[in-house]
Amino acid sequence: MRYGALALVIIAAAIFIVSPLAGSLVERWSLRDTDMRSTLVYNSVRHEVANLVDQGAAAQIHDLFEQIALDDRLLAVGYCDQKSELLYHSKMMPEGFTCGIISAAATHRHTSQIALDGFRLMVASFPIRGRTETGQLVILHDLAFGKRRASRAIMWSIAALLLVAFIAAALASLSALMIGRRWLHSIRQAIEDIRLGRTDHADTNEVPLAREVRQVLRDIDDAKRATDGPRVEWTPEFLSNLLADEIPDTPIIVVSNREPYIHNYEGTKISLQIPASGLVVALEPLMRACGGTWIAHGSGTADRKTVDSRDCIAVPPDAPQYLLRRIWLSEEEQEGYYYGLSNEGIWPLCHLAFVRPTFREPDWVKYKAVNERFADAVVAEARRPDPIILVQDYHLALLPRLLRLRLPEATIVTFWHIPWPNAETFGICPWKEDIIAGLLGSSVIGFHTQFYCNNFIDSVDRFLESRIDREVSSITLQNHETFVRPYPISVEWPLAALSRQPPVDQCRAAVRRRLGIANDVCLGVGIERFDYTKGILDRLQAIETFITRYPEWKGRFVFAQCAAPTRSKLETYRNLQRDAVLAAESINERHGNDAWKPIILNVRHYDVDEVLELFRAADLCIVSSLHDGMNLVAKEFVAARDDEAGVLILSTFAGASRELPEALIVNPYDTGSMANAIEQALSMSKGEQRERMQLMREMVRTHNVYRWAGQMLLDVAQIRKRKGLVRMTPRRQTASLPTDIRKKTRTLSSAS
Ligand code: G6P
Repeated sequence: MRYGALALVIIAAAIFIVSPLAGSLVERWSLRDTDMRSTLVYNSVRHEVANLVDQGAAAQIHDLFEQIALDDRLLAVGYCDQKSELLYHSKMMPEGFTCGIISAAATHRHTSQIALDGFRLMVASFPIRGRTETGQLVILHDLAFGKRRASRAIMWSIAALLLVAFIAAALASLSALMIGRRWLHSIRQAIEDIRLGRTDHADTNEVPLAREVRQVLRDIDDAKRATDGPRVEWTPEFLSNLLADEIPDTPIIVVSNREPYIHNYEGTKISLQIPASGLVVALEPLMRACGGTWIAHGSGTADRKTVDSRDCIAVPPDAPQYLLRRIWLSEEEQEGYYYGLSNEGIWPLCHLAFVRPTFREPDWVKYKAVNERFADAVVAEARRPDPIILVQDYHLALLPRLLRLRLPEATIVTFWHIPWPNAETFGICPWKEDIIAGLLGSSVIGFHTQFYCNNFIDSVDRFLESRIDREVSSITLQNHETFVRPYPISVEWPLAALSRQPPVDQCRAAVRRRLGIANDVCLGVGIERFDYTKGILDRLQAIETFITRYPEWKGRFVFAQCAAPTRSKLETYRNLQRDAVLAAESINERHGNDAWKPIILNVRHYDVDEVLELFRAADLCIVSSLHDGMNLVAKEFVAARDDEAGVLILSTFAGASRELPEALIVNPYDTGSMANAIEQALSMSKGEQRERMQLMREMVRTHNVYRWAGQMLLDVAQIRKRKGLVRMTPRRQTASLPTDIRKKTRTLSSAS
């Protein structure tokens, strides 16, 4: 920009200086030229004029003068006698011309410039000496010609300057383009080399910028490899080997409110239920891979019946891999701690779904007491001063500090499975300082996204006296440092239950048969807990808008909403369930007929096999949470579609939308655009479905739950190494772990 402006200034200056100079030069040259022409004319006709004047041959003189005046630069020719009378002249002689203007007695050539009758003239007079007469030959040139020539010269010089400037600019751009191309080529080459891992390849002709790019990319690549291990396949074996390698002989203790296996009485029989909980979906595979103890509330009616004398049961029941220790809570404890503070207070506080949080003092008292009870159980299970404890979710916000006080050497990682609101919203909570201080007993606090980490740090900043180091993202409270990290949660890959699934076309047929719909009817599914954060009411509204706006789909599309009852003791949840049932009924009444209903609403718990079968049978899946920390249903749907078909419609307010941008991303409050997304999904070609699904599957495959856990545990390893807590026992050989990966993961733990 700056150089362009400079060039313009130089060209303008050149035009202003050079052009007038050229004009005046041309004008001066024209005058001299006119003068010379007059002399030339005089020399060629002087004798003839003298003779004709002597003879008094007026007619020939006039003819001769007209001949001379034919030159268009020459205005007129005349002859003045000794008495200064204009005896002869050509026709164009200006009327005002008199011989008095010249000196009749002059013996030499004489020139002068005058203005006459609107002309600017150069008058040249030359003596004529005949035998009898003497006089002056007068030649009048129109100087306007010279002026015209001067202005033409100015014009041409401007044009020439502009042309030169243009050519110079074109040449400069061309060479800049060629240099730029070379640079681009060089930079591209550098990027490609780094991408393909050709780190030592460097062209000697490489431009300096490419060298810098290469270096920066190498640094980024190293950092990425160090924290991400991009070529590492995260599998259960890899994770457990990594654990054995990095944190040897230290079993893991997981603590959560919800237990992974619930035993319930059905009559006199005991049935096993795996609860609908994102937390369970994520942590269960981790525990299966790594072993250890999971401490949770025993909420099933037959839970007490199935535990041993220490309240423990080995799970999974059919092939035990870890221990589940159950904690028993009284009705009052559940009321205050679980339903009250956790689900009427903290849950709506953290989810932006416009449900007012309710905070009651007695609930808070119970919440504190139950957190103490969990702390007792953890200390009892720890059996060493420095256990690794993974604390889960908002039910146990006080537990990390309680544990820190009793087990100061413990490594405590707390994962917050729901969003963390901004500081202003969090400020509503009457016990905000206690909750934050409770969490800051952790060694690491994890959230799904960096955004929630930032909100948490801002909340600490606003409400607690502490030292915040934003560079390493840590908070120090009373000499204890807690790191705040994003760990996007995920699902196992491949889903273990997928091995029990028949091929997709069989699932399609079976589900359609069960739902009573024809084979060629398109099916949309929504599967989740009946929670107001999931946006079920708006979704049903979107289905109605869809069939109203696109009536050609009537009879050709059915939406199956499967919702597991949850927290039904709470009025908000009961109301939601009632409203959704009414909404589905009235939509079906308005738009359906005997043969077809647009919505099938099933309110019950679905086991994992049923869920996967539904996912595989569906043409589209809608996850339209009003707000969701991550939402693992979205990732489960993707993981279930090994046929690479099906479309995911995903809320922009679910954390998963950050990782799955190939889904059709919607605003769940905008039912019109959701209706359009349904239409887009149903009309999407198989090819586009495959392309989108392949990208999403690759993301879920590489960023699976083993990676989620692995990254947390590597941070744990680093913290423990720093504290010098890793016992110097000989390392177990990790035969299945290739040496280069071992090296990489070591770098990871030391750099993450
Ligand atoms: C969310 C929470 C989990 C909880 C799950 C089910 O995913 O983050 O902690 O387990 O909902 O809720 P519930 O109240 O049935 O355990």
